[in-house]
Amino acid sequence: MAGEKVTISVIKADIGSIAGHHKVHPDTILAASRVLVEAKKRGVIKSFYITHVGDDLQLIMTHFKGVDSPEIHETAWKAFQEATKVAKDLGLYAAGQDLLSDAFSGNIRGMGPGVAEMEFVERPSEPVVVFMADKTEPGAFNMPLYRIFADPFNTAGLVIDPRMHDGFIFQVLDVYEGKIVELSMPEEMYDLLALIGTPSRYIIKRVFRKSDREIGAVVSSERLSLIAGRYVGKDDPVMIVRAQSGFPAVGEVLEPFSFPHLVAGWMRGSHHGPLMPVGLKDAKMTRFDGPPRVVALGFQIKNGELIGPADLFDDPAFDETRRTAQVITDYMRRHGPFMPHRLGPEEMEYTTLPDVLEKLKQRFKPVEMGYKPHVKAPEEPHD
Ligand code: 13P
Ligand code: 13P
Ligand code: MG
Ligand code: MG
Repeated sequence: MAGEKVTISVIKADIGSIAGHHKVHPDTILAASRVLVEAKKRGVIKSFYITHVGDDLQLIMTHFKGVDSPEIHETAWKAFQEATKVAKDLGLYAAGQDLLSDAFSGNIRGMGPGVAEMEFVERPSEPVVVFMADKTEPGAFNMPLYRIFADPFNTAGLVIDPRMHDGFIFQVLDVYEGKIVELSMPEEMYDLLALIGTPSRYIIKRVFRKSDREIGAVVSSERLSLIAGRYVGKDDPVMIVRAQSGFPAVGEVLEPFSFPHLVAGWMRGSHHGPLMPVGLKDAKMTRFDGPPRVVALGFQIKNGELIGPADLFDDPAFDETRRTAQVITDYMRRHGPFMPHRLGPEEMEYTTLPDVLEKLKQRFKPVEMGYKPHVKAPEEPHD
């Protein structure tokens, strides 16, 4: 209906997977689908598309209930619960991994699943791109988002499209303090980069067009480590980006992903690796549980209905990127347990460091004591 606001909600959770953290089992997708079919029949949601990237089950839904709608979040929660039941029956790996609470309390945020939602008045033609990544964290989208909405060497439209020429506002979340700051591009570019270059802490949460504050992008930011008070799995992120007609063109939205930049979250949530763009057919995790991968699905939204998707990275145009990602994979893997392949101690999902330090506590001596070998050096042989 003209003027009515439509909402697109992408809600994801790892509810268990087949053969380790490799990929979602089709029977769990079916179980979640049944819940969404029912919700559609009851008019709760207008349309939906279910898929998976690696071991993360992805619910893409449109509706007219706005962001943070209890009804929508409860629907997603129920879908994940039903999928988890099947995962448990099949003995899937880490069944129910991201469902941290037993009871739904009105909002899915803070309960484990990741959420990206935006509400807007539909344009006559409304292209959106939904990005979904596995084995990484929400800050993995910092660099691409900066390029899409602030870098004229990526997005020609910033320079030559009058509707974008004023620039964009970036909302940045400090996940440790739970605070948000807004920065205006291009004037505050250096301040923005000073923050978002630390993607484990400062996450681009939303981007708005400066001229009219229309929303352009939103990223999920529920960081499981902070939710659960400890690491229980990297928060594999999702992102929604609007394109064309006053926003970056789809080609400008995809372009940053032609560089497979290093992201955190590979193997045991504790390593850096290249982010490899893939089509849905390759959205599964193998080598060292990776490498981290991202899928981009393009939709049109018409009268609140999802039209599509187009599997945008399923294209030879990204073959060279994937090849580069393989080369980087080999290069990073050769570092084994060394940083910067391994994450810094404060970010690792698995660590033995406190135990090792405890065990060696008595054996650490003050440096002034010098080196006193326990064993006498063998005598020099006489000639
Ligand atoms: P719009 O003016 O519709 O955004 O189209 C720009 C474009 O796609 C050029 O490549
Ligand atoms: P997920 O966070 O995707 O479940 O992966 C966990 C892991 O440790 C893979 O090596
Ligand atoms: Mg998993
Ligand atoms: Mg995952």
